[in-house]
Amino acid sequence: MNDSLFRVEPVSPVIGAELSGVDLSAPLTPELFEALHQALMTHLVLFFRDQELSFEQHKEFGRRFGELHIHPAAPKASEHPEILVVHGDATATFVPGELWHSDVSCDVEPPMGSILRIEQVPTSGGDTLFASMYAAFEALSDRLQRLLGELTAVHDGQQYYVGRYGGGNLRDGVYPSAEHPAVRTHPVTGRPALYVDEGFTTGFKELKRAESDALLAFVVRHCAAPEFQCRFRWRPNSVAFWDNRCTQHLAIWDYFPETRHGYRVTIKGDRPFYDPARSAKESRGDLVSP
Ligand code: SIN
Repeated sequence: MNDSLFRVEPVSPVIGAELSGVDLSAPLTPELFEALHQALMTHLVLFFRDQELSFEQHKEFGRRFGELHIHPAAPKASEHPEILVVHGDATATFVPGELWHSDVSCDVEPPMGSILRIEQVPTSGGDTLFASMYAAFEALSDRLQRLLGELTAVHDGQQYYVGRYGGGNLRDGVYPSAEHPAVRTHPVTGRPALYVDEGFTTGFKELKRAESDALLAFVVRHCAAPEFQCRFRWRPNSVAFWDNRCTQHLAIWDYFPETRHGYRVTIKGDRPFYDPARSAKESRGDLVSP
């Protein structure tokens, strides 16, 4: 597919597109910003190759889409607290993103998007999987869609971050936790997306413990179905830009003891909400997606 400003090659029918002909280090014109934003709304995650970005250029690109987010638990590079270091090597005991998750869904206002640039790749492996939570929601029966649409999911940062980042760098002095609708309406497209993830979700507030555990296990397995996914193979200076409001991702740590290294800029988002009437209108095509 060709756009007048760049070339777009979808990598799966439901999620992911590789864009070429864009230099992310250069200031974005309003037309290019609009076209990239529209491409993100359509494809949910955008991939770019050969992007050499300084920290300042990386942050500047992110800032075009919103205010930058500070990670609640990871150690910060002192001069660039908005840059999250993504690193795995022979000494690592974990790498960021090994479980399916939407970034920092434990924040009360979780990030809308994340922009990851990988600088150093292993000889092979280190791919990232991305999954569409629109597709995951749409694949459920009407009954289960309705049930999940009435539930509140509890997201706990402690579950994910303890044993990984420890508690020495906490942004707010405590691990964040939040309650969100299990299905959220995307604030731009109006489409419903599942918003429950393996990394942070501990259960559903309205259910008994055993019911909650069983439903959570089902939803986590359902969201990881291959037909909702695409898989990105990194090269040095590849960039992925994903929308956390309608996707989850998982970083595959299959390259130990080799090194993989990169940097992520994360963009602040809004408090999730579910408006079934708006989502239904969008499914019927009554709304025009901006
Ligand atoms: C992350 O969750 O942001 C890390 C993804 C990756 O390293 O591919």
